[in-house]
Amino acid sequence: MNILILGSGGREHALAWAVKQNPKCDRLVCAPGNAGMAEIADCLSVNTEDGAAVVALCQAEKIDFVIVGAEAPLAAGVADDLRAAGITTFGPSAKAALLEASKAFTKEVCDACNAPTAAYARFTELEAAKAYVTEQGAPIVIKADGLAAGKGVIVAMELQEALDGLDEIFGGAFGDAGAEVVIEEFMEGEEASFFILSDGKNILPIGTAQDHKRVFDGDEGPNTGGMGAYSPAPVMTDAVTQKALDEIVQPCVDEMARRGTPYQGVLYAGFMIKDGQPRLVEYNVRFGDPECQVLMMRLGAQALDALHACAEERLDTAQINWADDHAMTVVLAANGYPGSYNKGTEIKGLDALTSDSKNMVFHAGTKSEDGKVLAVGGRVLNVTARGGSLQEARDRAYDMIDQIDWPEGFHRKDIGWRAL
Ligand code: AMP
Ligand code: GLY
Repeated sequence: MNILILGSGGREHALAWAVKQNPKCDRLVCAPGNAGMAEIADCLSVNTEDGAAVVALCQAEKIDFVIVGAEAPLAAGVADDLRAAGITTFGPSAKAALLEASKAFTKEVCDACNAPTAAYARFTELEAAKAYVTEQGAPIVIKADGLAAGKGVIVAMELQEALDGLDEIFGGAFGDAGAEVVIEEFMEGEEASFFILSDGKNILPIGTAQDHKRVFDGDEGPNTGGMGAYSPAPVMTDAVTQKALDEIVQPCVDEMARRGTPYQGVLYAGFMIKDGQPRLVEYNVRFGDPECQVLMMRLGAQALDALHACAEERLDTAQINWADDHAMTVVLAANGYPGSYNKGTEIKGLDALTSDSKNMVFHAGTKSEDGKVLAVGGRVLNVTARGGSLQEARDRAYDMIDQIDWPEGFHRKDIGWRAL
């Protein structure tokens, strides 16, 4: 099978690494890819949100199977275009991708199948939204309806913060994504992420994870795309996992099918768990980054079989053989991230590191130039390790970091603190 992975982040490098180990992978192409992916795949340039261009690339390269990494191409209908061209594709249609692209849509789906989630109201007018927030009081959560690169959610502990947030969103801070606002009840509890494949009908859980969104140790500082993650998430016990599948995930998958927009791809569900009861925080329609890195570390080559079975709507025939293991990934980011940072600084020491089924450095914002690896993004490397315990995985990951020579980068030193 000739396989194309669309994207250029640590998530896509981890997918590429897992897929490449499977003997069913004859040729691996990544578009656009990064320096790490270039070591194991042919990297070609393409506009990943341009369906016609992606289809043309697949035809030119004789691609049999496409894995779409990020949400923007999915929301733009790239998976629809690929399927229309007869190319087997992992990733939901634009209509099913609304589960991430519209928070109000997800709430409607949850309502229709009684899936436990926060109580909410929807607004398109600033004054009505402010009146509602004032009546409800803080803490309260304000969300721009559409895709806002992870920045459209304000968890307001004070009323004024909520009112300011509404001014910001209706003032156009997120463009069209903020034309509608969802205002939610604040949920207390511990958060965890759960990844489930759905072929439109059948579902297959492929792991749990927890990430660290804040930039500094102790979960301080501004939010980022994620500074590290580990899998499994201890809070997702077998009982919580079963409840999440029975009360939330399968009912939502069934509701999407009932609406004529079956969901095919990975559902990345965020849950708030309190007293053993999961409630849905949100769905994403793609793997998390960096959560994918720890999932792929644990799944290895079998990830390809599962994703391919999902895309071919035969997930009922697929299974995952779980090892009793743990994985952790620690993000190395450029000094200044998530604010402004320098590009083009050199990273040394990567060649000397062991790369095997227990130790991997997944690349995110890197490029290679004249034999050097240069940092060209905010989140740059994902140092990832597997072990018999979370502590062992953690020790391995931090040992690897000690060997990387990149004075212009930083990382959190406390990834996994909640679980350890
Ligand atoms: P989202 O983009 O919907 O995942 O929201 C970003 C983050 O805001 C989540 O990961 C939670 O930490 C927090 N959050 C979102 N909705 C709620 C809620 N209803 N109650 C408490 N925290 C929330
Ligand atoms: N790590 C969070 C995300 O991928 O959305």
